[in-house]
Amino acid sequence: MSSDPPNLMSPDPTLRAGCPAGDRSVAAAGASGDLQALAKRHLWMHFTRMGAYEDHEVPVIERGEGCYVYDTHGKRYLDGLSALYCVNVGHGRAELGEAAAEQAKKLGFYTNWSYAHPPSIELAARIAALAPGDLNRVFFVSGGSEAVESAWKLAKAYHAACGEPRRHKIVSRYLAYHGTSMGALTATGLPPLREPFEPLTPGGRHVVNTNSYRWTEERDPLWAAEAIEEAILFEGPHTVAAVILEPVQNGGGCLVPQEGYFQRVREICDRHGVLLISDEVICAWGRLGHWFGCERFGCRPDIVTTAKGMTSAYAPMGAVIASDRVAEPFLHARAIFNHGFTFGGHPMACAVAMANIDVMEREHINEHVLAHEGEFRDMLEGLRDLPIVGDVRGAGYFHAIELVKDRDTKQTFDAHESEELLRGFLSGALFERGLICRTDDRGDPVIQLSPPLIADREQFEEIEAILRPVLSEAWERVVKR
Ligand SMILES: Cc1ncc(COP(=O)(O)O)c(C=O)c1O
Repeated sequence: MSSDPPNLMSPDPTLRAGCPAGDRSVAAAGASGDLQALAKRHLWMHFTRMGAYEDHEVPVIERGEGCYVYDTHGKRYLDGLSALYCVNVGHGRAELGEAAAEQAKKLGFYTNWSYAHPPSIELAARIAALAPGDLNRVFFVSGGSEAVESAWKLAKAYHAACGEPRRHKIVSRYLAYHGTSMGALTATGLPPLREPFEPLTPGGRHVVNTNSYRWTEERDPLWAAEAIEEAILFEGPHTVAAVILEPVQNGGGCLVPQEGYFQRVREICDRHGVLLISDEVICAWGRLGHWFGCERFGCRPDIVTTAKGMTSAYAPMGAVIASDRVAEPFLHARAIFNHGFTFGGHPMACAVAMANIDVMEREHINEHVLAHEGEFRDMLEGLRDLPIVGDVRGAGYFHAIELVKDRDTKQTFDAHESEELLRGFLSGALFERGLICRTDDRGDPVIQLSPPLIADREQFEEIEAILRPVLSEAWERVVKR
């Protein structure tokens, strides 16, 4: 996924060919139903410069097994990104689909609007048991943006129910990605994603993130936490509903918190009556070696948002997990959280999530990540001998390499060089050699790796065997030339 805005619409090839409207799709695709032609004619890919596929093949992935996926030519790729931080237990787990099929035989769908069904009740209870502290109340949704959107609305509704209806603002961090629906986009700190859709939801405020690689040495390590308090004080605490933070921030390249960061943020939130939301759309379900990412850093959020690895993405599902304190005002008399989505808590998605948790428990996935993250990190640290590698950072199975022009001065690439480096060379070269990972320049250019949580030394060695020559070549081609 590129974070850039997609290109402007490319001309419709069938109009250029002058096809009559009724025949367009068949003419474009060919009667053979060739997937390439059909994709180019009909599929609207997300965050994709579709013009790039005018003279290139669309990569069509048709099969997966363990840490690997295969395209329609039968070529194998190491999925170093877990299909966008999603497929935590790996590909090809038939039992997750079988759980959905079993559920379909009993009850394919029923709603959670005023009703409940056994899968949503059982899953909610199971998540509450796994979640830290008193995060005991689970509101199901269908994905990450819905989770963030819902959490912000919940924070506003909570304050209103507690007699503070003016608390509506949300504080988040530069470069953080929290989703694309209008509320979630307001929390997202990436100007190229926001600007085309302004005006956004009122009340978004952004502060510095924790990328200490770019800080001067004398900087107070808790500077980024203090910036949150400054923002709250500037806005007026009585207007601020929530602070939303990922345990490890994805945008900008796996930005880890400083020691004591979350503890300080907790104190600040408590001092000003602001709710703390831990956005764990990526960082939960073992990605950092724990059920929930906040556990790794001793963070005590009031609300957790999650999705992706919750079902290992075998079904689209997300959740907002609220503490007892946050849920309390909505549990009595005529009180109501006036919000919902038809598919929230879909029984088949719940069945998949339960089967996913079964796999994680049976195979000790969290323990596996904690036992092997050191090898993963060591492999990446070993690349520091390459002049283009500026920083290696992350936690668990969620790491990034920041690329630089000059390691000593940390000089980064300008927009043109970055485009040439990432899209002009690295993405293609890595994919060509069979490694799917993310090259990203939402901040300074990074390569992100987030393999399935079953990966071990064999996959780490394979990643190194591809990354090392490709990064060396990138240096020769783009920097040294
Ligand atoms: C931290 C975070 N929040 C929210 C989202 C949005 O999730 P979705 O794409 O499922 O709407 C993402 C997606 O990557 C994310 O990483």
